[in-house]
Amino acid sequence: MKEGHLPVLAEEVLAMLAPRSGSLQIDATLGGGGHTERILEAAKPDGRLLGLDADPAAINRVERRLRPRFGERLVLRQANFRELATVAPDAGFDAVDGCLFDLGLSSFQLADTDRGFGFRAGGPLDMRFDTSRGVPAAELLATLDAAELTALFRRYGEEPRANRIARAIVDARREAPVAGAEELAALVERVAPPNPRQPRRTHPATRVFQALRIAVNEELEALEAGLAAAVDLLRPGGRLVVLSYHSLEDRIVKRFFAAERRGCVCPPELPVCVCGRNPRLRLLTRKSVTPTPEEVATNPRSRSARLRAAERLAA
Ligand SMILES: C[S@@+](CC[C@H](N)C(=O)[O-])C[C@H]1O[C@@H](n2cnc3c(N)ncnc32)[C@H](O)[C@@H]1O
Repeated sequence: MKEGHLPVLAEEVLAMLAPRSGSLQIDATLGGGGHTERILEAAKPDGRLLGLDADPAAINRVERRLRPRFGERLVLRQANFRELATVAPDAGFDAVDGCLFDLGLSSFQLADTDRGFGFRAGGPLDMRFDTSRGVPAAELLATLDAAELTALFRRYGEEPRANRIARAIVDARREAPVAGAEELAALVERVAPPNPRQPRRTHPATRVFQALRIAVNEELEALEAGLAAAVDLLRPGGRLVVLSYHSLEDRIVKRFFAAERRGCVCPPELPVCVCGRNPRLRLLTRKSVTPTPEEVATNPRSRSARLRAAERLAA
């Protein structure tokens, strides 16, 4: 596998953001800095970008890799994008031309054997983007009861065999806690093996890993807060671009865009609008944009990506 993280739908992201010299951009999910690098290149010679990541390792990596090339044009903050409403203005980015969210985790995190994000890399089940906050995934597996684990796997993983997997975890921890990624992957494979007549492209534990990661990082709550803050920060004509990788994320993005496009949130039975809200976004993508087969072949991680973009209307 190729080292590092290839930016997904990079040309499409650039076409939607259309960064120009002098513009201010936000990359809310810096990762390996692949999109950031392309945006700063396109915004030469003086466009500036604020890059955020909850994971300090991402900030350090991009600092080393891109600072020498972009100098003061690149502003980095270790922060969760749910705090965008305060972090961006504090960094001088209070009216911006573009904001990108490339959700989920990077190939660096997936390959990190100390963090338990991936069943192939293994390691202790932590899964936090920011290890100074919240509780590791192993703690959820050690403390939630079978009903709570079932609900978590259903809600955040849409896992059809959630109950069976949850009961197996509770049984297994009577002997010893389920604390490692390889151990959890093997347990799921044992109690919920793939149907041999329905070959799946993914490992049987994929949904359980997704569910735990979403839960420990409160990813869906962060996404709702981050999107709301981003629209507030955009100048009229500014662009919001979101790449999501599973249906739970995409549903939130789609609904958010639809509500901001509609404006009024009054119940339909009211004869006149009382909320007074105006539309704030114009959609740039009616349907989501997905990668070409060529991109998926060179970057399998892009397989499930969906891009949605919108433009801020004048107030
Ligand atoms: C898919 S990667 C981004 C890859 C990047 N676009 C690139 O081209 O290299 C997602 C990144 O977002 C970060 N992240 C996820 N949720 C976050 C949140 N709520 N706040 C800040 N960063 C977050 C992860 O730590 C990860 O580094």
